[in-house]
Amino acid sequence: MKALGGLREAMEKRTVSIIKGDGIGPEITEAVMEIISALDVPIEWEEAEAGLACVEKYGNGIPEETLEKIRRHKVALKGPTTTPVGGGHKSVNVTIRKSLDLFANVRPAKTLPGVKTRFENIDMILVRENIEDTYGGIEHWQTPDVAQCLKIVTRPGCLAIARYAFEMARSMGRRRLTCVHKANIHKMSDGLFLDSFREVAEEYPELMADDILIDNACMQLVSRPEQFDVMVLPNLYGDIVSDLCAGLVGGLGVAPGGNIGVDRAVFEAVHGSAPDIAGRGLANPTAMLLSSTLMLYYLGFAESARRIETALRTVLGAGIKTRDLGGTASTKEYTAAIIEALPEIELGQTNAFAPARGPFAHRGQEREPGEWSLYGVDVFVHSQGLPKPPQRVGPLELSLISNRGTKVYPGPTPEIFLVDWFRLRYRSSQPVTDADIYSLLTEISRQYDWMHIEKLHQSGSTAMFSKAQGE
Ligand code: NAI
Ligand code: MG
Repeated sequence: MKALGGLREAMEKRTVSIIKGDGIGPEITEAVMEIISALDVPIEWEEAEAGLACVEKYGNGIPEETLEKIRRHKVALKGPTTTPVGGGHKSVNVTIRKSLDLFANVRPAKTLPGVKTRFENIDMILVRENIEDTYGGIEHWQTPDVAQCLKIVTRPGCLAIARYAFEMARSMGRRRLTCVHKANIHKMSDGLFLDSFREVAEEYPELMADDILIDNACMQLVSRPEQFDVMVLPNLYGDIVSDLCAGLVGGLGVAPGGNIGVDRAVFEAVHGSAPDIAGRGLANPTAMLLSSTLMLYYLGFAESARRIETALRTVLGAGIKTRDLGGTASTKEYTAAIIEALPEIELGQTNAFAPARGPFAHRGQEREPGEWSLYGVDVFVHSQGLPKPPQRVGPLELSLISNRGTKVYPGPTPEIFLVDWFRLRYRSSQPVTDADIYSLLTEISRQYDWMHIEKLHQSGSTAMFSKAQGE
């Protein structure tokens, strides 16, 4: 099959949705399209709209028609789109990822010749979970002083990202995967992420699998980054650490990415629409170009991808760079130099990005429901100062009051500033019912405004209850 690579590349025609985006988006996507058309790859572009113009036209950043196009062609290349901060329309990126279930975000970070960096020989790939965590956007005001954001981590979500990372590593000949987490503090949510990683790792005995706490990972990344190979992270840590890694290899101008789902993918640079330099011919198309090479590998056009990478390394190595990398070339000059440097044919295996196809969509077997019973409830109330709620209602007994997670009852009051939001924990030695909880809430609401409740469950095998206590 390998010998037929060139032939296969010549035969399979693919339509790709192209979203030019806002700011520098049109300049850099056009540069990339020009380079790809110089390769004679059988790609047909179909333009799809998203971004500011759509907000004016349709009231949201991405029309359903664009999502439909991506679903139909299964692959898109996307320029950056502008999202207002702290209000306005929802992020187009977040909408795309969620609407198309693009659960894996892949961000390679590799040193390039001629790009000045503090470290050499970095060649790692970050695999970031793309849907869950605090990015569900489930936030509520609890009291006038307290905002809450829910961090949602699911077993199927964790298994899918771990499966994807291991499959990707295997098909790319990578050797080591490192799960990055904070499971010592977020025992249940990050604990689930880590446990799922370990569970999947068992099926890949030829790959080294280890884990590291997120804070230590950051320190290691800025002192010995070359030690990492593939890093697997929950959404928020992945967002932050991938920008850190982009900085290690030369900044946003050279950081590519891909959002990958079961049978579809959207490739885009890590950077945004750079409104400060838009329309001035200064934008660096490298990140977008490297994203397009990920796309070419994904589509099976590996030779073409390698030709682009070679040309890019030649041009950068020769000192032809855009202004952000310390050079003087305009977007157009840089693009022309890359086209000029495209080698006739590129053979030999590089450590290239390969998509994981096959069984990575695995989301875990159905589990036996097992024992799952209700033993208590946390009631969150609005109160100025330490509340004095009923000690006992039916089988439920007050066992703990905390403020911002710190125990303030029973026992001595710790030296923390008390905000106007308290957690009252009621437990029972026997399983309780919803009716018991309703009675408790009725009693509590005579004295306090309650904001929300969390039922406390105990699962037969996993000691969920004792973990849940934080005790
Ligand atoms: P940004 O990435 O657009 O710009 C940050 C800095 O890097 C600016 O100084 C910019 O000039 C420079 N820069 C970025 N890409 C460059 C390139 N290719 N060549 C040369 N210089 C480059 O981030 P910022 O300013 O925080 O966000 C601007 C807008 O982009 C916001 O509306 C934001 O929401 C959006 N954004 C969109 C993303 C996407 O569509 N994937 C990702 C990140 C931000
Ligand atoms: Mg980010």
